[in-house]
Amino acid sequence: MSDYRPETRAVHLPQPTIEGSRPISMPIYQTSGFVFDDPETMADGMSRPDGPFVYGRYTNPTVRSLELAISGLEGGAGAIATGSGMGAINAVLLGLLKPGDHLIAQDALYGGTAAMINDLAGRFGITVSYVAEDDPAALRAAVRPETRLVYLETIANPMGRVADLPGMFAAARELGLVSVVDNTFATPMLCRPIEHGADIVIHSTTKYLSGHTDVVGGIAVFADDALYKKVWHFAIELGASADPFAAWLTLRGLQTLALRMERHCANARLLATRLAEHPAVTAVHWPGLPSHPSYELAGKLLPDFGGVFAFDLAGGRAAGERFMRSVRLALLAPSLGGVETLILHPATTSHHALSAAELARHGIGEGTVRAAVGIEHAEDLWADFAQALA
Ligand SMILES: Cc1ncc(COP(=O)(O)O)c(C=O)c1O
Repeated sequence: MSDYRPETRAVHLPQPTIEGSRPISMPIYQTSGFVFDDPETMADGMSRPDGPFVYGRYTNPTVRSLELAISGLEGGAGAIATGSGMGAINAVLLGLLKPGDHLIAQDALYGGTAAMINDLAGRFGITVSYVAEDDPAALRAAVRPETRLVYLETIANPMGRVADLPGMFAAARELGLVSVVDNTFATPMLCRPIEHGADIVIHSTTKYLSGHTDVVGGIAVFADDALYKKVWHFAIELGASADPFAAWLTLRGLQTLALRMERHCANARLLATRLAEHPAVTAVHWPGLPSHPSYELAGKLLPDFGGVFAFDLAGGRAAGERFMRSVRLALLAPSLGGVETLILHPATTSHHALSAAELARHGIGEGTVRAAVGIEHAEDLWADFAQALA
């Protein structure tokens, strides 16, 4: 490079080769593309997901590190990291369904997913039937010749219904359907759906996997190579790829996932139990409480029940709004799965796209508040909730 003029040398910067050592943590490969010595290797990189790195929309070493890490935790054959959880859901549903196809989804889904599925039905002629998440007989009854896919959530947002993954996936397998499950609320620390027969596991990595409320991301993990390759081709066309910095933040968060999940679950247990005894609260929806409809199933499927619960206030919507204005430590904010405790009103926020009938089907009332419990000291959180209830 010393033969070139300063204008050229300022563009083509030196890159030291690292010899005799390697970085402890995964570096951020902040580059949109890669340089090749020959065109054959470059073509190879564009033809397969596990080939040489070629272009950032395909993947990138930092993004691949995240894909390998989460695929490994879930027990998958491969994974595609995306720019958001909705990016992963879109990559899977649009990558696998075509006009005329039918899908079966569980009644109570995250509002964004429910809205996306309604949109698919309205604009692309893909029909959908809803069944309870724990009813394999209803799944069998809903199937049609054009049914392709079953879509569940391990623990549903926000009411905590737990899906009968072994029963539903066994029925799906018999019927030749692809089984997809959103495992965002459980994380692979509480459930690895591929062990129960899932074909595809989706996460909003925005939530527990990154865990620090500083990144938006998603991932789809595939149990087998054929489905992985099929969706990989479509994901590249969709252009929903993860950014290297976002992937790096997620990797950093992932290293403490196990510890954080223990605290999220323990804090949720304390708050849910005390709220259930409080006179201002009419119901608490957390699958670790005996009063929850999924309690028995959850006990068989999960070692603990996650950090999110919803609760209904006796005073309805006005009481819910007063509660949200009165908390001092918990933050009124969207999302969940971060270290801070966040609360929101599902009917007007996370599930605002749903009609009154759909909200009723999800069991979400006007006075329902959702709490995504963080990792603060549980007694500080309870003191905050108690003063807000008072
Ligand atoms: C269960 C679940 N799945 C998917 C999503 C969508 O993820 P993202 O916001 O990262 O697109 C969310 C977001 O709240 C969610 O709660």
